[in-house]
Amino acid sequence: MALSARPDMNVEEFRLIQEFVNERFGLVLDENKAGSLAAKLVPRLDDLRLGSITDYYYHLKFSPQNRAEHLNFISLLTNNETYFFREEAQLKVFSDFILSVLKENRMRAHDRRLRIVSAGCSSGEEAYTLAMLLLESGQFVWDWDIEVVGIDIDPAVIAKAEAGLYGGRTLSVTPPHLLERYFRKEGDCYRVKEVLQRITRFQQGNLLEFADHFAEASLDIVFCRNVVIYFNDSTVHKTVEGFARALRPDGYLFLGHSESLARITKIYEPLRFPGAVIYKKRI
Ligand SMILES: C[S@@+](CC[C@H](N)C(=O)[O-])C[C@H]1O[C@@H](n2cnc3c(N)ncnc32)[C@H](O)[C@@H]1O
Repeated sequence: MALSARPDMNVEEFRLIQEFVNERFGLVLDENKAGSLAAKLVPRLDDLRLGSITDYYYHLKFSPQNRAEHLNFISLLTNNETYFFREEAQLKVFSDFILSVLKENRMRAHDRRLRIVSAGCSSGEEAYTLAMLLLESGQFVWDWDIEVVGIDIDPAVIAKAEAGLYGGRTLSVTPPHLLERYFRKEGDCYRVKEVLQRITRFQQGNLLEFADHFAEASLDIVFCRNVVIYFNDSTVHKTVEGFARALRPDGYLFLGHSESLARITKIYEPLRFPGAVIYKKRI
């Protein structure tokens, strides 16, 4: 039986792809995406000289070259929408509260290291926003070792983040004085300055394999906003447990404003602020 939206991906093929995507990347593929997905797969089938979506599924699952194809495939599936200074209320809590608490804790322990991760960083806007706010806070100067690390499964967006060149609407809510301070104009676009790039780094990786990228108790804050909204509950659970392992005992987790852990886990304590809920790891 063929799916109505796209006759060249049948129900069984869609189910196989759906299971694979959920198991490997945590993403939930909606059945109404079958048509658009089938269309996006046409160039992949052509490139690989495969005759059907079933062949493509077997290639993804079993071929020796499948790791490389996973990266091509994932670029077709992800929603990469992002922009600088997204969700102001949360950023205010980060700047006005969390950074001060963590600075005090670290100073007391004579430990001047701060690590922040933008998990599901897309093209880097969130990571560079956090880097700007860190520098603007003026709290981590001199001999502090600070870094914001962006990680995303999609290699295409990681390449954009590393290039650090932005144009169009992504900068539209960036305060003008910060645009001036941290960006250089290049034609119609803006490139992040070296001062931001020095404390920011990007890497390709799957959040379901977080422990492969970040050591236990090595991180202070994880931002994972507008990512788990595409996961099912058990994948959200696995993902935020991975974050908890990588966070220090006094670490914090920021999720998107429509993402909640209420039904998912009790390993974090929700802290309520005006317009924002932040999660603190329970020790
Ligand atoms: C909608 S963007 C959110 C970007 C940014 N966090 C923000 O809030 O503006 C979601 C990003 O999550 C990434 N993503 C989805 N599943 C992932 C996974 N399993 N591992 C790593 N990144 C993932 C996607 O590639 C996409 O770039």
